[in-house]
Amino acid sequence: MPESGTKEKLPREALIPLLQEAQERDGYLSREAITEIAERLDIPPAKVYGVASFYNQFTFTRPGKYVIRVCRGTACHVKGSERILNALKGELKIEPGQTTRDGLFTLEVVACLGACGLAPVVMINDEFHGRLTPGDIPGLIESYRERDGRER
Ligand code: FES
Repeated sequence: MPESGTKEKLPREALIPLLQEAQERDGYLSREAITEIAERLDIPPAKVYGVASFYNQFTFTRPGKYVIRVCRGTACHVKGSERILNALKGELKIEPGQTTRDGLFTLEVVACLGACGLAPVVMINDEFHGRLTPGDIPGLIESYRERDGRER
């Protein structure tokens, strides 16, 4: 958005697709990506950052290896998604929007995941986990820790 009082116009039409491309490639907008885009468009990095931070779709921190999306849609809410979220927060010791220190898990809260019949639903990367209870959470997280261990 052009700042009032300046005549400078952002090449926004070019900027947004470049930001989307970088985020798709890296999973987030790194400092390097922002600098590279700024150089390509010949505008200050602060301007690129300013536009990117205006949109919720862009993130500036590297996501964990496993991104956990907790559905807070109506069906999941009715079936106790809040207790699932609390169990995950307790297990991982992070809040939504944060990543564990080991870089393994990122916790997010999202709207309906389109699998309401399985409520309450959690998605980890591209895998659905449905009809969860808080008691399932430690084992679920442990299974991903083990999977990571096997992949190392
Ligand atoms: S409300 Fe959770 S999947 Fe639809």
